[in-house]
Amino acid sequence: MSAVQSDLGARSGAAPSIRVLTVGMLDAVLAIEVQAYAFPWTRGNFIDSIAAGYLTRALVAGDGELIGYFVAMPGFEEMHLLNVTVAARHEGQGHARRLLAELYALSAGFAATAVWLEVRASNARARALYLREGFSEAGQRRDYYPAPQGRREDAILMTRLLHAPRGEA
Ligand SMILES: CC(C)(COP(=O)(O)OP(=O)(O)OC[C@H]1O[C@@H](n2cnc3c(N)ncnc32)[C@H](O)[C@@H]1OP(=O)(O)O)[C@@H](O)C(=O)NCCC(=O)NCCS
Repeated sequence: MSAVQSDLGARSGAAPSIRVLTVGMLDAVLAIEVQAYAFPWTRGNFIDSIAAGYLTRALVAGDGELIGYFVAMPGFEEMHLLNVTVAARHEGQGHARRLLAELYALSAGFAATAVWLEVRASNARARALYLREGFSEAGQRRDYYPAPQGRREDAILMTRLLHAPRGEA
């Protein structure tokens, strides 16, 4: 068993499970992060998020391998999804959808009525995922993200209601 597997707690044969993302998982998180993004989050970004009490979850395979994770910031009646990532070798198997379903379920405990997120305009895969999940585009943030060669890239602001507004349920 690798150190990462040991840290994540291997349970061979078991189905993937969702756990709170902890500092002890950050080596595995950062290995996925640097593969997934040209401008990945740093260890400090994750530590700050955990210290701030943001909502974090990891999806862990039965053998202890980290499959994916999310970080979300609770706000007044809203949940802001800051990071959702699935390891490249586990993409296309519904893991992001599972993580998002967990986010929606947990958001109820924060009295959130909607999830908000920003996504790079060029990230067609993630935008398709969010549209399939019922998000709609609510705006654009010009030059929001860093891009290669010192350029910037726009963000698309997306939102999804968590339940029908009061009186319409
Ligand atoms: C975006 C990402 C989280 C999707 O994770 P995933 O586990 O592969 O997603 P799922 O398997 O749950 O797929 C859900 C939906 O994504 C979309 N999708 C998945 N693979 C796709 C592909 N190759 N091309 C286009 N859309 C795709 C589909 O809409 C799919 O719905 P379907 O299953 O009904 O067809 C993952 O690709 C990733 O981590 N990418 C790098 C990091 C990133 O961009 N994160 C989002 C930042 S805003």
